[in-house]
Amino acid sequence: MRVAMIGTGYVGLVSGACFADFGHVVTCIDKDESKIERLKAGIMPIFEPGLETLVETNVREERLFFSTDAAAAVRGADAVFIAVGTPSRRGDGHADLSYVYAAAQEIADLIEGFTVIVTKSTVPVGTGDEIERLIRERRPDAQFAVVSNPEFLREGAAINDFKRPDRVVVGTDDERARDVMRQLYRPLNLNETPLVFTGRRTSELIKYAANAFLALKITFINEIADLCEAVGADVQQVSKGIGLDGRIGSKFLHAGPGYGGSCFPKDTLALVRTAVDAGAPVTLVETTVKVNDARKKAMAGRIVKALGGSVAGKTVGILGLTFKPNTDDMRDAPSLDIIPALQALGAKVQAFDPEGMHEAERLLSNVDFKTGPYEALDGADVMVILTEWDRFRALDLDRVKSLLKNPVIVDLRNVYRPDEMQALGFAYSSIGRP
Ligand code: UDX
Repeated sequence: MRVAMIGTGYVGLVSGACFADFGHVVTCIDKDESKIERLKAGIMPIFEPGLETLVETNVREERLFFSTDAAAAVRGADAVFIAVGTPSRRGDGHADLSYVYAAAQEIADLIEGFTVIVTKSTVPVGTGDEIERLIRERRPDAQFAVVSNPEFLREGAAINDFKRPDRVVVGTDDERARDVMRQLYRPLNLNETPLVFTGRRTSELIKYAANAFLALKITFINEIADLCEAVGADVQQVSKGIGLDGRIGSKFLHAGPGYGGSCFPKDTLALVRTAVDAGAPVTLVETTVKVNDARKKAMAGRIVKALGGSVAGKTVGILGLTFKPNTDDMRDAPSLDIIPALQALGAKVQAFDPEGMHEAERLLSNVDFKTGPYEALDGADVMVILTEWDRFRALDLDRVKSLLKNPVIVDLRNVYRPDEMQALGFAYSSIGRP
């Protein structure tokens, strides 16, 4: 099949490369000329494990192309994917759909023959209807179907999530479009991945409901972690004890500093807005958003407490800046709340992140960025683990101790074990563990 992918951001690029790897001929389109030039030269705009090799192989084997010219790619395509950004609109939390609608209008002018137009971007319920209306208005003669096909890709594991998904959701009532979608995802038959066919509005809501539920699950365990601290229980054992119940499930029960990233914060807010507008508020999700925001802000207080009540004039050594490991993405990362709060209280911050420092330099000021974890700890009063990168899991703790001014560790990701750290002589605090 021939595929045009509009937008080479995270979702577009990963999806385009994976479809090409499935054997389809894919052209990824972006208006940003320099990005396309860099992609043609094999330079990735994002850090995602395995992506560079996947792109390189499929470009070499002539299944994956990059272009700024939508016309040629869309004209011959069986399916045109819209994978442009839907940021939170400033002020009201609604998803900003201007890029989606601009793409729809561009596509309208170009389609030839029966074309399936697929929204991969996360869009509020009813957006597919509006895309269909826009295209129909511009091209009353065109033969097309608009399909919702949400992505469930986790950064850092996106290729695996695309190729071995739990399910693929396809929202359309058009039988011809369903056939095209079946063919596109045919390689997944081998893994017996369920293709869930639904109506378009239902599919749009599935994406938001999935992300909101996961955000709620994390927030739930975070609050239980606070309760564990108050009553002397261990949240990791609580997670295990409840997660083994098949109705609950063990995933997404890791307590931490609060969720961040490109999806949960934005999508929970957008769902809240949609629900209020529809007159069916989702109060649990509203509360989740508030609790998570407050949690990220409260995390600096733990570091202050670990240093005896004041960080003024002290140096905080931070390991990890991104919202999670294996990504360079800094969007809504807890570090963006924690570091400025510490600085406002008079702390000096030195930090290291394996992939996120370039982006962090734009978003944080007066941080002394270091070349490695030990450099970030040299002369610091405390070591703080903010992101659970693998390379922070097996630090040389004797060396850590000799570098720190005081043997104090605040581990916001529960990477280490309290008993072991205490035995090594650290004043160690973590999340939800005695
Ligand atoms: C998420 C969804 O998982 C994915 O399906 C969707 O399409 C996009 O949003 P992503 O944002 O890449 O993916 O990361 P994810 O692994 O889901 O983590 C999100 C945030 O939750 C991170 O800040 C992470 O640290 C936090 N988290 C996750 C926890 O604090 N505890 C957990 O148990 C799991």
